[in-house]
Amino acid sequence: MPTLYIKTYGCQMNERDSEQVARMFVQKGYTLTDRENEADVILFNSCSIREQAEQKALGKMGLLSKQQHRPHVVYGMMGCMAQSKKDELFKELPRLDLVVGTQKYHRVFEHVDGILRARQERRMDELQTAFSGTRVCDVAEEADSQNRIRDHLNPGARSTAYVSIMQGCEMKCAYCIVPYTRGTERSRPIRDIVEEVNMLADAGVKEVTLLGQIVNRYGREMPAADGKGGFVQLLEAVHEVEGLKRIRFVSPHPIGFRQDLVQAFTYLPKLCSHIHFPMQSGSDRILKMMRRPYRNETFLDLCARMKQARPDLSITTDIIVGFPGETEEDYLLTRQAVEQVQFDNAFIFRYSPRRGTPAAAMEGQIPEEVKEARNQDLLAVVNEIAIRKNRELVGTVQEVLLEGPSKTNEERLSGRTSQNRPVIVDAAPDLAGQLLPIRIEESTGFTLYGVPCPSRA
Ligand code: SAH
Ligand code: SF4
Ligand code: F3S
Repeated sequence: MPTLYIKTYGCQMNERDSEQVARMFVQKGYTLTDRENEADVILFNSCSIREQAEQKALGKMGLLSKQQHRPHVVYGMMGCMAQSKKDELFKELPRLDLVVGTQKYHRVFEHVDGILRARQERRMDELQTAFSGTRVCDVAEEADSQNRIRDHLNPGARSTAYVSIMQGCEMKCAYCIVPYTRGTERSRPIRDIVEEVNMLADAGVKEVTLLGQIVNRYGREMPAADGKGGFVQLLEAVHEVEGLKRIRFVSPHPIGFRQDLVQAFTYLPKLCSHIHFPMQSGSDRILKMMRRPYRNETFLDLCARMKQARPDLSITTDIIVGFPGETEEDYLLTRQAVEQVQFDNAFIFRYSPRRGTPAAAMEGQIPEEVKEARNQDLLAVVNEIAIRKNRELVGTVQEVLLEGPSKTNEERLSGRTSQNRPVIVDAAPDLAGQLLPIRIEESTGFTLYGVPCPSRA
């Protein structure tokens, strides 16, 4: 039986696409392997968001394809870097056989199989198609086999799943390559999404994360119902799914984030008390140059309103430091906003120029040492807040979805609170998949440790 090794870089969308690709191979009789040196097919699902993400994948693929003494092995690159670099990749990676763009991943199997049979051929398939390749039945038909695949790609995550609700992005933030790699915005119908979530819940999934570049732009063309936009209508429909306990979504954008979505936190209990809400910068001048069409004040006001709607809400964010033209003053405004919101956590990125984006050609590019210094300075602020918030939870009881064995200690389970904080729990393995009240006993920096409450253990 031929074997497939698939490695995923980048965001949850890529993880979800990899699951789909893996499923197609398994259905056709392939087995999945963790051992790249034994695989007959090596696929990378790549990311272009920052230079480093591309270099990592290029470096690893370069090494793998050099070390291989097995000439029949098929090497394929899919995902955002494949979409954006296209046939240039064949020059950078001479041993590469296949480049498949983001909207053609459902054709990977067909191509690979063809190549395996006729080893001399190389193919490229990066053209855009309508949003048709990911109909729900792709997943729904075989929720069980999908579960096994998820187990393989992400061990222990049987109770959680990603669901793509829309694809593409048209915001064209000045720094970002995604609009060029993921195409135009397309939303799936509510009916399809609910059908998929139903199937997942039937297969034991307790928590779904709805994915889109800007989830709250979902269903913009739908007529409002009771003053509620398409995204909130979707949340309400998914909320009805029996057996499903938790709903998350990434990523929301301040644009089009209306009161109906703020309100949703008050009456949809399955909606988790966590929002990952990218701020990018605290300086209005930089936001404008980034083409992020909101002021920091609007962002802060939304955070405050969400906290009012859901007092235990945790807010995490993305921040870019060192965007072209960012002065010390701009940076300090970002730091000030971080201190004001008291984010539960934040991903801080050093600005990375991306080919074809307007910001890459802007004047005032910031030296790497300055980016690094701002990154370190901000990280210290973010970490201090995160660690303090974790410490404050010691002694409390939190509802935790126990996902599976902890990566560091197989005797324990790892799970997450509604606020998305990881917790290592001293509990029997057969409790995996359950949502239980857990008493938090210890906090070491970023990790919480707990035990099931006696009443339910
Ligand atoms: N669609 C999401 C973001 C997806 S990309 C949104 O708009 O909120 C994830 C994060 O990568 C972004 O929030 C941004 O902080 C970061 N990022 C994107 N392009 C970048 C670049 N060129 N350099 C550094 N960070 C970048
Ligand atoms: Fe990129 Fe902006 Fe679209 Fe997010 S909203 S994916 S940052 S262009
Ligand atoms: Fe990367 Fe593409 Fe996701 S660039 S972050 S894999 S949308």
